[in-house]
Amino acid sequence: MFDVATLRKDFPILNRTVNGKPLVYFDNAATSQTPQIVIDAIVDYYSMYNANIHRGVHTLSQEATDAYELARKKVQQHFNAKHLYEVIMTAGTTHSINIVATGFSSLLNQGDEIIVSALEHHSNIVPWQMLCERTGAILKVIPMNEEGELVMNAYDELLSERTKLVFVNHISNALGTINPIEYIIEKAHAVGAAILIDGAQSCPHIKPDVQDLDVDFYVASAHKLCGPTGVGVLYGKEEWLNKLPPYQGGGEMIDQVTFEKTTYAGLPHKFEAGTPNICGGIAFGVALDYMNSIGFDAIAAYERELLDYGTQQLSAIEGLKIYGTSEQKTSVISFNIDAIHPYDIGTIVDKLGIAVRTGHHCAQPIMDFYKIPGTVRASFAFYNTKEEIDLLVAAVQKAKMMLS
Ligand code: ALA
Repeated sequence: MFDVATLRKDFPILNRTVNGKPLVYFDNAATSQTPQIVIDAIVDYYSMYNANIHRGVHTLSQEATDAYELARKKVQQHFNAKHLYEVIMTAGTTHSINIVATGFSSLLNQGDEIIVSALEHHSNIVPWQMLCERTGAILKVIPMNEEGELVMNAYDELLSERTKLVFVNHISNALGTINPIEYIIEKAHAVGAAILIDGAQSCPHIKPDVQDLDVDFYVASAHKLCGPTGVGVLYGKEEWLNKLPPYQGGGEMIDQVTFEKTTYAGLPHKFEAGTPNICGGIAFGVALDYMNSIGFDAIAAYERELLDYGTQQLSAIEGLKIYGTSEQKTSVISFNIDAIHPYDIGTIVDKLGIAVRTGHHCAQPIMDFYKIPGTVRASFAFYNTKEEIDLLVAAVQKAKMMLS
């Protein structure tokens, strides 16, 4: 039995009201909420040992360095990276992807091919388009079907000896589809391509094992995982991280600097120029501990219940269409009602205290596929309840009545 009532007490924000109603927070795919233990870690850092890391002999700097490196260790253990130095701490998923995309500029040639999928977030499209502009490489796209699934036959046909890189998200942020990444990774490797998996949306629900997946790069953000914004991870296999040049120059990423020549630090520091988000990194480690103490199997099972219940209840509303109907999906429900603009539904349900995301969800190609401007997206986390889903259903019905 999943004790959601007890877990909810860990999140102070869930006690607040919005527009005079108890907050119902269903925008978890954008940002998850923060448990008190993570908030305490942030306050503790700034109250007790705020200092720069890897730089000072003084006590505060040492304490901050130890706490930050402990967080890196926790990230390594969570993702099961083989080596600690394969964990690059970044500002988030977008930053992680850009490190890889920029690094590949010197490794690609005119006519090389890059494969992305029709289900990508803009952050897993635009950096690769920029890479193609710099190198003359060609972008190919795995198409999707009406259910919001990737068409694997088409992927097989796109792959060839010209394919150098494949980039796919583990879970679609706009639809919730869980992509068959094991198959995608295996096939990419069979033609000698490197593969990056965008785990921004999977990490709140699934604990990935990067060695078991045999993935070359895996990226994620702390703020989807009960951690703070502005911090994330780039996992990369040692051999790939060694091949990529640094993304930014600056302090801490060097070995020796003279005006004639600079040599770079080893991993992971080569990719960590400048003062990082120290407090955020430490809090990320605490957030991972928190999520692991609940357990990802328990989280996934409970969220599946919420997904099934929400799908059933919302589908009963006449004129409501759900986008993303794969059996393999996580707790995201994207929908529209008749021709009502999603923004209007979002505005009305907000007046009733309910937070959903509306719009194209930074995935315009998906909206183009369905020929819609956007959707209303309710994304559930393990601290949500069926009673909250009932409130959403009532609010959506009210919005429909007002807008029809
Ligand atoms: N990518 C985040 C979302 O899907 C912000 O909402």
